[in-house]
Amino acid sequence: MPQGVKSPNLSAPKPFQCSPAKRLRRFLQAYWLRPENALWMALRSEVLSPYDLQHPSIDLACGDGVFSFLHCGGEFDPAFDVFTCVDRLDRMRDEHSDIFDCDGDQYRPTIQARPPDTIDVGTDLKTNLLTKARRLDLYDRLVRHDNNQVLPFDADSFQTVYCNAAYWVENIDGFLTEIGRITRPGGRIILQVKLDSMARYTLEAHRHLLGDRFLSIIGRGRIETWPTLADRRTWERRFTDAGLDVQTATPFVTRTHAHLWDVGLRPIAPLLVRMANALTPSTRADIKRDWVDLLTSLLEPLCKPTLDLFDQPDEPAEIQYVLRPR
Ligand SMILES: C[S@@+](CC[C@H](N)C(=O)[O-])C[C@H]1O[C@@H](n2cnc3c(N)ncnc32)[C@H](O)[C@@H]1O
Repeated sequence: MPQGVKSPNLSAPKPFQCSPAKRLRRFLQAYWLRPENALWMALRSEVLSPYDLQHPSIDLACGDGVFSFLHCGGEFDPAFDVFTCVDRLDRMRDEHSDIFDCDGDQYRPTIQARPPDTIDVGTDLKTNLLTKARRLDLYDRLVRHDNNQVLPFDADSFQTVYCNAAYWVENIDGFLTEIGRITRPGGRIILQVKLDSMARYTLEAHRHLLGDRFLSIIGRGRIETWPTLADRRTWERRFTDAGLDVQTATPFVTRTHAHLWDVGLRPIAPLLVRMANALTPSTRADIKRDWVDLLTSLLEPLCKPTLDLFDQPDEPAEIQYVLRPR
């Protein structure tokens, strides 16, 4: 290493570690009314946990930052969860509305413990989500940015680039090339990407038995709104074309997890949120505590990245790729 250049390893804190059950409980506490999302996020966090987010680091499409806050070891007061500040509950089902994309001025997440380290930059398309993320004091800088456009950062700016939302980007080849450009030589890119197998891990094949109304309530059309789902081979070809070498590929959401998520509590989530938010704070806290205890016990056996209850192997629904610019 040239003299005077500090190894990123010397200053990097260890990634936050905890047991899978504790990790699941942390995500359930924040996302209790969507336990299937909490399970997915706990799996994401689990496979991400061996990697420290060496500085300078960026979280592309960070949303409200709650995933990364919890992943990095932050803790909220039990009274806080992401459902305390939502909007457009009435439009959630029919218009796939993002209930978390609300005016963050009233948003006051009560933080019990900050993560031991910060992330240098977070970006997202939605201003409201960035306003919420700002309240976490996790990101040193937040930038509104559409990932279909050229990234507003110099070449070789980041040692760690993380993104779990590449499936939203229409210009995926341009986005991957841009990620390679902003990553330092020897830096690490961690992408958690969804596969098009998700389109099969639904009840669509049983439409003749279940009917149109059933599938519409469950949420048909969600998956079709993600422009860049692809199979494993296509993702890896995209990486090669963008000048990125695959270091590791870790499948971590199986067909079983994807089927659970496909049904989940999504259809009744707007009603659950309304009901929970109409309770007195102490009743809400009581019910939430028992709910989180129950769901932790119920989902813990499923919270394993490779768990699949089907007999024959099939494609995963999400893979974590660790990549390096060539
Ligand atoms: C499922 S959320 C994930 C957010 C966050 N990474 C997390 O784990 O909670 C997907 C995020 O992608 C953002 N997004 C969607 N399209 C985008 C685009 N074209 N450019 C930047 N962000 C985008 C959304 O605003 C949303 O915050």
